[in-house]
Amino acid sequence: MIRKAIVPMAGLGTRLYPVGVVLPKGLMPFVLADGKLTTGLQLIAETLLRAGIEQIGIVVSPENRPVYEAFLEGGGERYAPARAKRPEMQRIYESLRTLRGHLNFIEQPELLGLGHAVWCARSFACGEPTLVFLGDHIPLPLGDPTPIQQVAQAYETVQCPVYGVHRVPRSKVSAYGILRGELTDAPRLYRLQRLYEKPTPDYAQQHLHTEGLPSDEFFAHSGIYAFPPALWETLDHIATQYDPASGEWTLTDAQQRLLKQMPAYLYEAESHWLDFGATHEYRHAFCYLAGCSDV
Ligand code: UTP
Repeated sequence: MIRKAIVPMAGLGTRLYPVGVVLPKGLMPFVLADGKLTTGLQLIAETLLRAGIEQIGIVVSPENRPVYEAFLEGGGERYAPARAKRPEMQRIYESLRTLRGHLNFIEQPELLGLGHAVWCARSFACGEPTLVFLGDHIPLPLGDPTPIQQVAQAYETVQCPVYGVHRVPRSKVSAYGILRGELTDAPRLYRLQRLYEKPTPDYAQQHLHTEGLPSDEFFAHSGIYAFPPALWETLDHIATQYDPASGEWTLTDAQQRLLKQMPAYLYEAESHWLDFGATHEYRHAFCYLAGCSDV
C-alpha cells in the first residue's frame, strides 16, 4: 500500500513571471463553481488524501517555504478576531490546520532538476514505495475515481513502477517524455518498452509509437508516477555520480535504470489533467474549475 506522495513544487515558475516571484505556483488561486476559493496546493493535496495517501512531502525552494507555511497557518493570532466573528473563516482555518497535519515541507536548495527534487525527499520517503505527482497539474475528475487512485491501484497489482500517461499528437512530442508500451491483458495498462525525454517527431515515429494508438498519437508522461522502494537506491546511486555541469538531473534517468532491474508499466487513466504552470493553461484551468460557460 502506498502511503506517501512527493509533490515537487520548487521550480521558479518562470512561465508565470512576474507573479511567480512572490506567489509560489502551488498557491495560485482557483474559484470553484460553488464559489469556494482554493489553491493548486489544496486541490492536489486533497486529491492525494482522497486516494488513500497519508503523508505528502512538498518539495519547495528555501525562499518559498515560509510563504507556504504562513498560508497554512491561516493568519494565526492576527486573524483570530476576524475568525471569531465569521464562522466560515474559522471553518476554513480548521481545514487548513487539518491539511497541515498531512504535509511535510522539504527544501530543494538548488534547482538541479526533477530527479534531484525527488531525491531531496528521500528522508521523508524513508525507503517506502512512493507516488510522485508534479506540482503544476490538477488531476480530474476531482471526485472518485481519481486518476491518482487508478495509478495507485495499478501499482498494488504489479508492484513495479507505474507511470500515468496521456496521449499527445506527433507535433508536441518534443515537449514531453515519450513512452512506448505494449498492451497487457488488463485494460489501460501497458508494459513499458522504451522511454525517451523530448524526442524529435521523426525519432518518436520510428521508435516510440505504441501499437494500437492512432499513428500520430503518442504516450507522454501525465505527471504521476508510482515507484517501488528500489527508486531510492537508484537515486542514491545517481547522486554519487551526478555532475551539475552535465546538465539537468531528470527523473527519466532513474526510470531508465529501474527498467534494467524490473518491468515497468504505463497506465492511461480515465481522466484528464489541468496544467496550471503557464498563463494560457492557468486561464483554461481557472475557467474550467469555475464552470465558466465559454471554455
Ligand atoms: P517545470 O519545469 O514544468 O516547472 O517543472 P517550473 O520550473 O516551476 O516552471 P517554469 O518552467 O520555470 O515555468 C515541473 C514541476 O517540477 C518542479 C516544478 O516546481 C514543477 O512543479 N521542479 C522542477 C522542482 O521542484 N525542482 C526542480 O529542480 C525542477
